[in-house]
Amino acid sequence: MKSQDIRTKFLDFFKSKQHDIVPSAPMVLKNDPTLMFTNSGMAPFKEYFLGNATPKNNRIADSQKCLRVSGKHNDLEEVGYDTYHHTMFEMLGNWSFGDYFKKEAIAWAWELLTEVYKIDKDILYVTVFEGDEKDGTKMDQEAYDIWKQYISEDRILMGNKKDNFWEMGEQGPCGPCSEIHVDIRSAEEKAKIDGKSLVNEDHPQVVEIWNLVFMQYNRKADGSLAGLPAKHIDTGMGFERLCMVLQGVQSNYDTDVFTPLIREIETITGVGYGKDEKVDIAIRVIADHVRAVAFAIADGQLPSNNGAGYVIRRILRRAIRYGFTFLNKKEPFIYKLAETLAHQMGNAFPEIRKQDNLVHNVIKEEEASFLRTLDQGLLLLDKVIEETSGKTVSGAKAFELYDTYGFPLDLTQLIAREKGYDINEEEFNMGMKAQKDRSRAASASETSDWVILLDDEVEEFVGYDTLSVDVRLTRYRKVTTKKDGDQYQLVFNMTPFYPEGGGQVGDRGYIETPNGDVIYVIDTKKENNVIIHFTKNLPKNLNDTFKAVVNDEHRRLSASNHSATHLLHQALRTILGDHVEQKGSLVSPDYLRFDFSHFSKVDKDQLQEIEEFVNARIRENLPLEEKRNIPMQQAIDEGAIALFGEKYEDSVRAIRFGQSMELCGGTHVPQTGDIWYFKIKSEGAVAAGIRRIEAITNVAVGEYFEDVERNYDAVKQLLKNPKDIAKSVSGLQDENAALKKQIEQLLKDKAKNMKGDLKNQLQEVNGVQFLATKVDLDPNSIKDLMFELGGEINNLFLLFATAPSTDKAMLTCYISKDLANEKGYDAGKVVRELGKLIHGGGGGQNFFATAGGKNPGGIPKALERAKDYIA
Ligand code: SER
Repeated sequence: MKSQDIRTKFLDFFKSKQHDIVPSAPMVLKNDPTLMFTNSGMAPFKEYFLGNATPKNNRIADSQKCLRVSGKHNDLEEVGYDTYHHTMFEMLGNWSFGDYFKKEAIAWAWELLTEVYKIDKDILYVTVFEGDEKDGTKMDQEAYDIWKQYISEDRILMGNKKDNFWEMGEQGPCGPCSEIHVDIRSAEEKAKIDGKSLVNEDHPQVVEIWNLVFMQYNRKADGSLAGLPAKHIDTGMGFERLCMVLQGVQSNYDTDVFTPLIREIETITGVGYGKDEKVDIAIRVIADHVRAVAFAIADGQLPSNNGAGYVIRRILRRAIRYGFTFLNKKEPFIYKLAETLAHQMGNAFPEIRKQDNLVHNVIKEEEASFLRTLDQGLLLLDKVIEETSGKTVSGAKAFELYDTYGFPLDLTQLIAREKGYDINEEEFNMGMKAQKDRSRAASASETSDWVILLDDEVEEFVGYDTLSVDVRLTRYRKVTTKKDGDQYQLVFNMTPFYPEGGGQVGDRGYIETPNGDVIYVIDTKKENNVIIHFTKNLPKNLNDTFKAVVNDEHRRLSASNHSATHLLHQALRTILGDHVEQKGSLVSPDYLRFDFSHFSKVDKDQLQEIEEFVNARIRENLPLEEKRNIPMQQAIDEGAIALFGEKYEDSVRAIRFGQSMELCGGTHVPQTGDIWYFKIKSEGAVAAGIRRIEAITNVAVGEYFEDVERNYDAVKQLLKNPKDIAKSVSGLQDENAALKKQIEQLLKDKAKNMKGDLKNQLQEVNGVQFLATKVDLDPNSIKDLMFELGGEINNLFLLFATAPSTDKAMLTCYISKDLANEKGYDAGKVVRELGKLIHGGGGGQNFFATAGGKNPGGIPKALERAKDYIA
């Protein structure tokens, strides 16, 4: 069965069990401080498990793109070395939100595996949670009794908390689970060792394929468990492993999920898979990592130097490094796999096909730049090795290479070993540990559990319609960070505060207590569908009714920039073309920043046209047409633009100004005239194929023009109010150039005249033609003059001093080459020593040298001393 069909069969099966089939959420998460990437199928549904939101249908199924490279679930180091772990993988899942529970989940899992996929029952094992004393949880007898109906009891195994109690992160929804394992070893091997003993023992052919989680707890910050408001089902089946079983192969990499990529790597590198374990590991690493990186880029996460972007950059560098070391690829090549991937995965995940061009360009550029760094690092490593006295290279140096050039220790070791050296690993680890301690200390934060005041309140956002409303506190918690000290996070039954999202910064403002005390809201963010207000203090009486008031200037200016962002997006697509896609956006009260895909610089004329397009829409004073809670499909049919990498609910909000229509949760001006004016401040590149425009609107434009005018007036005054400033400046430039030419000529003439005078002043001392004197010439003329004299006179020793200003002095010494070479005179030594008298230093060759200093007062003495050198 082809992988495509395996995926479809799964989704069709659960559709027949009344599940809504939804597309995969983006792999890169936004606005979730506890999780960087979707690390499991359930992550996009966290808010449903926590009871912060309700799904339209309480049965859902999908195939979710997951990434396990950081935090609690991190498989990165296994990837390539074994045949069944991945950075990015697909998780097939079915969910019940407070609907069916263990009985149905187990029955359907069994039906799908054994009747639809027709997996032989005799190769399956299941596990059941044995209970945990510390958590106070009991053995899952209920699951055991259900399993008994389907599988013989000797195939039901007990599992501990590590394997059979699933938690998404340190905190959050969790519960006992039952895993389904397959044993795909040969009959011969099975006869030797009982499969039972290999379950959960990292055997490559006895692996877990499906995890059924029975969500019923929430892990709190203090480590204790609390019951969830309702019981849920969360199942996750490893798609690539399922393909391995159904396609009768022994490794995920031998399924048609990976073989096209591996064939392509073989073609590009000329290296064959399956002959040499080291090469195979490298090929597997690359085939795996390119998927993670490509899907991250398609979801809008570009490689960068921090946060999620840095994780993506590191994954790609890991792949490049394996290619460099084991496949001998010194040129970019991984980007070439993007096309194969788009071809192969594009049906199930259209984003990878649509973003193919971008993925290709970004990876190529990243490869090229890291390969350059590798080159530099290699030179540095050569130097380090050269300076090493024994045969062990300093671990501190190896750490420096890692830290500044991204050289992993094993690469440094490999290269060093080729030259007969090893690395002091202990020292390297010390550097590594110190760095980790530093970053841990810098980001240390402590979050207390929520204190619930009103449990059953819905936390409603009313900020589209009002900026001030009476509210009650439903819960709060304290967060202490090194950077910000103590802060409180407050949640109200309703709020006018817009939480950071869609690029727009969170609202600021205050809450007022009944007796007139004011507590400032310094930021507003959303976490798992809950709107959190950040304050420095808590109100004294928590049960009061407060007045929550948004800072209207902050909001009005943010709205102005947000609406302008939509018009800019429309302008870019109209003027540059439909290929333009939003890749990032920041909307603050002060300015807006918009990143978009486009493959060349936007030139001056285009920028002007874009600006004019937006300003024309502003002048038209287009009214805001807002549609809340309309079905996603209706919005798209009406022409709304949706963004890649955004997670949309079934019902969405659409914002229209004339022909511009976008899905958007942000706040906007009531009519475009309120933007006043739109001005682009800069345009530039952010990454390969991604451009950035920064612009201002509203009062910021007023300030900008005032500033420009002030400067203009100042220049005008300096130029004595000419009619045409540009003409006047260009006249000055011409005049300046002509004057420069004249001066050059004058200096040349002066030097010529001076030459005769200086010749007359020469003295003969010990057979040397000697002159030490002050001359009033520029350094170049002095040099020319000295060499001219040298061409005419033998045995010459000259020291010329000049003082171009009251705090600048210069000494220049010329000694005929024959004198310098035969008698050991050294102009460099002369200026170095005499330079001290003018409080400076310098040097040069033995026949010509200069010194600069700060003390013209020292010149007479320097000239006087010069004779000592020949006396
Ligand atoms: N959340 C569980 C897992 O990731 C099942 O989906 O294994």
